[in-house]
Amino acid sequence: MKDFQKLLLANKSWAAHQADDDPTFFTKMAEGQNPEFLWIGCADSRAPADRITGTEPGQIFVHRNVANLVLHTDFNMLSVLQYAVEVLEVKHIMVVGHYGCGGVKASMGNSDLGLINKWIRNIKDVYEKHHDELEAIADEDLRTDRLCELNVLAQVDSLLKTTIIQKAWKNGNKPYVHGCILELKTGKIKQLIHVEPKDLSSIANIYKYDV
Ligand code: CO
Repeated sequence: MKDFQKLLLANKSWAAHQADDDPTFFTKMAEGQNPEFLWIGCADSRAPADRITGTEPGQIFVHRNVANLVLHTDFNMLSVLQYAVEVLEVKHIMVVGHYGCGGVKASMGNSDLGLINKWIRNIKDVYEKHHDELEAIADEDLRTDRLCELNVLAQVDSLLKTTIIQKAWKNGNKPYVHGCILELKTGKIKQLIHVEPKDLSSIANIYKYDV
């Protein structure tokens, strides 16, 4: 309980500090949000979107789940994506994975993890797609890190396969789509891929809709 009380006290002090710094901060925040970025990241506690990008509340719309997956059966992710694209009209969507991801690591093993099996099975599919490249990497940590990267690229493609993105691009709206990876050892984010609006060249025709 003590730890939780400490958290509330820290919040109190943060709020007082913010109000002290800028007396209009909370009035402005309560009026509404106009973020330019949608962040789809891992739920890992070491990857907080605003803290590591030096942004303020109101600047990044955030969705996080285990291993930053973009699954077309996930109504949570799809709702966040649709709202961000169609209502908030964000200019950039970033899928942000991180090296040493526990979800990615777990997907490379054979342990029965219960319900989580079903979630990370999607990463096993990414592994199988790049089986030869990954099996050629002898060092286990390096192999995990490469799968972390390949997983990000697969989720970027998965975003392009949604009618939400395809429709937005057809209507002349942004957003740009970025695939990024966070290196926990340095705190730095590296961009792996950047997709311009209307560029569906990385996905097969069968995934393109008459939107
Ligand atoms: Co992770």
